Amino acid sequence: MTNVVIGAGSGMGTAVAQVLSPRGHLIVADLSLESVQVVAKDLGADVEALACDITDNAQIEALMGRIAELDDLEAFVISAGLSGSMAPGRRILEVNLIGVARVLAAVEPHLRPGSVGICFASMSGYRVPNNHELLAVLDDPLSDKFFDNLDALGFDLEVRGAYPVSKLGVHRLVRRLAPAWGARGARIMSVSPGINDTPMNRLDEQNNPIMADFVKSGPLGRRGRPEEVASVVDFLTSDGASFMTGSDVLIDGGMVAVIPEDSTGGSVRAG
Ligand SMILES: NC(=O)c1ccc[n+]([C@@H]2O[C@H](COP(=O)([O-])OP(=O)(O)OC[C@H]3O[C@@H](n4cnc5c(N)ncnc54)[C@H](O)[C@@H]3O)[C@@H](O)[C@H]2O)c1
Repeated sequence: MTNVVIGAGSGMGTAVAQVLSPRGHLIVADLSLESVQVVAKDLGADVEALACDITDNAQIEALMGRIAELDDLEAFVISAGLSGSMAPGRRILEVNLIGVARVLAAVEPHLRPGSVGICFASMSGYRVPNNHELLAVLDDPLSDKFFDNLDALGFDLEVRGAYPVSKLGVHRLVRRLAPAWGARGARIMSVSPGINDTPMNRLDEQNNPIMADFVKSGPLGRRGRPEEVASVVDFLTSDGASFMTGSDVLIDGGMVAVIPEDSTGGSVRAG
């Protein structure tokens, strides 16, 4: 069995790599080859590190070539992503939604019965106000006109927050792909972490100190830990979750349950 984690070089992706490594051959991929080389060395055994920028078609194809050679894909996890503090809005959408959609399109021919895809979305995807025109644009992330279509709606990526919108797009992508994956005997889901103690979150809190109070206002009053998300991914990619597909699993310490209804996705740029 081959399991793959893209974005394995840091945070929750590394934690997922740790839980998947005892299952067989593991490919850890990331924009940063150095970071996954370190992860592979720490995990030892049957772990292979590859460079893969999910916005670069040639690198996506190289990873798919390796998956095709092995021809026994089981878990396929995309944890790679950028937060609102890390890049301009356009780049966030290019990575978090368009990159994820490209990778999922590329992996589809390599699915086999028992393959399971897990994409990292976010609790912030639950906070985007309902807008049918925006949803129609998000539902076509591979269109050449994607950014023109957003512009045409007057959507200002910086003001309204590209991050929550990118993650709502992932929720919807997974739902749309479930039938095609099901036809191959495969399942696909997303997970939506809340605020989780990773390098991404530490940067976000540095740039937005109010987030520390926000964390305390949640039912559990603390940040999640990467291993608390990895254990859910462990379950979702196991036979125990064999009837789950096309849905999102919220792992947010109850935060979405207590955010006031009238707050918007744009106000929660991170998490
Ligand atoms: N930390 C949080 O609070 C939080 C909350 C909700 C959702 N998320 C999401 O969970 C996922 C993991 O977040 P994290 O906190 O572990 O982040 P992180 O920054 O610790 O790790 C993300 C990894 O993705 C890699 N990456 C970035 N761009 C890439 C690209 N173009 N191609 C390939 N790899 C790329 C980075 O090099 C890094 O190793 C992300 O998708 C993030 O949006 C995080």
